[in-house]
Amino acid sequence: MTDSHDPSHTLSLTADWESPAETAADGTWLECVACGETFAPFETIRYTCDACDGLLEVRSDDLPTFDDFSGTGVWRYAESLPLDSGVTIQEGNTPLYRVPRLEADVGVETLRIKHEGMNPTGSFKDRGMTVGVAVARELGVDRLACASTGNTSAALAAYGSRGGMETLVLLPAGKVAAGKVAQASLHGARILEVDGNFDRCLDIVQELASRGETYLLNSLNPFRLEGQKTIGLEILEGFQADYGTWPDRIVLPVGNAGNTAALYKVFRELVQTGELAVEDVPKLTGVQAEGAAPMVEAIENDADAVRRWDEVETRATAIRIGNPVNAPKALPGIRETGGTAVAVSDEAITAAQRDLAEEGIGVEPASAASVAGLRKLRAQGVVAADERVACLTTGHLLKDPDAAAAAGRDPEPVPADTAGVLEVLES
Ligand code: F0G
Repeated sequence: MTDSHDPSHTLSLTADWESPAETAADGTWLECVACGETFAPFETIRYTCDACDGLLEVRSDDLPTFDDFSGTGVWRYAESLPLDSGVTIQEGNTPLYRVPRLEADVGVETLRIKHEGMNPTGSFKDRGMTVGVAVARELGVDRLACASTGNTSAALAAYGSRGGMETLVLLPAGKVAAGKVAQASLHGARILEVDGNFDRCLDIVQELASRGETYLLNSLNPFRLEGQKTIGLEILEGFQADYGTWPDRIVLPVGNAGNTAALYKVFRELVQTGELAVEDVPKLTGVQAEGAAPMVEAIENDADAVRRWDEVETRATAIRIGNPVNAPKALPGIRETGGTAVAVSDEAITAAQRDLAEEGIGVEPASAASVAGLRKLRAQGVVAADERVACLTTGHLLKDPDAAAAAGRDPEPVPADTAGVLEVLES
């Protein structure tokens, strides 16, 4: 702990980062987004600021431009990441689907679906984990842990075991979709089911990590968010390739607001290198379920901080979160980019899940929140008809088979002969 910067503009789109001579290793350092304290990145394990407990961000004074990227997947963007290589299962390079019918129905000029469910374990968490688990290896830790609504636990279990490390996951009992528990289980994580919600699980795992029992790989870990920046880089490159322009808006589901923070971070980096003009930065637009919408409440009330909701409920269990820990990074991201946040009902989420399914895109409920939110904002006139929009769908349909079956058509029993089947078909 040495150099301290003036933090007043640290989370603005136009701040230039100054490398702190004493704490930067190879031009990379950790900086507190609240007080500006800086730390060497790989010497001591820390997740938050020693001085004020604020959130940390990984910073570099050698930021890349688009020309520096080559190859495919998350590690195409190695120049933008704190390590040159990771523990990889070929994550990233997910499809940016065209959805002409949905685009016309929602009523925007362009709608593309960035389907993060097409990652190795079926969610965007893989992008963060390939980096986070590599950092864990660099730090020499051998037991990794997370609290999870499911997807983080699946990714941690897969990447941890690929990296040869022990994994521990704390899940809210009875509130995690079946596919996710199955993944954590088969990849060999020790699964602890907590009699409490996700936020309680995170409190406990943070406590375990601070006692040195485990290495924490929730999105509080700033290295994980570095990997998740690559979603933004892929969307920007995709729009540039197909339209020669940037998207006006990125709409995404919000739980802990890690993705929102990661996208905002990469936009700030691109503004610093001159790759993206401030006025071209896509408007970050967060969507929560009505029963778990503390970020929306903070945006609507123009509040400086988010109020923790102790009671949360939604069918979209992945985002059943009442205390979005990355809010101090994400609130400025939504505001500075001219975005907004909106809450949607569980019914609207299921309807959007069906809309996407009609286009052949299978997503879990939380993912469909982005499309439900876009529809609502378009209907309200907050999103204009001439906008080019990317919606993020964060997890695959098979993550939550029960929700998919409930939203879809029911199987029909038929006799075991052709005549009987024809009779049912004609009925
Ligand atoms: N969508 C899905 C499918 C998720 O699993 C999550 C978070 C989010 C959206 C929200 O992302 O936290 O970056 O705002 N899932 C975490 C987990 C909490 O444990 O799997 P965020």
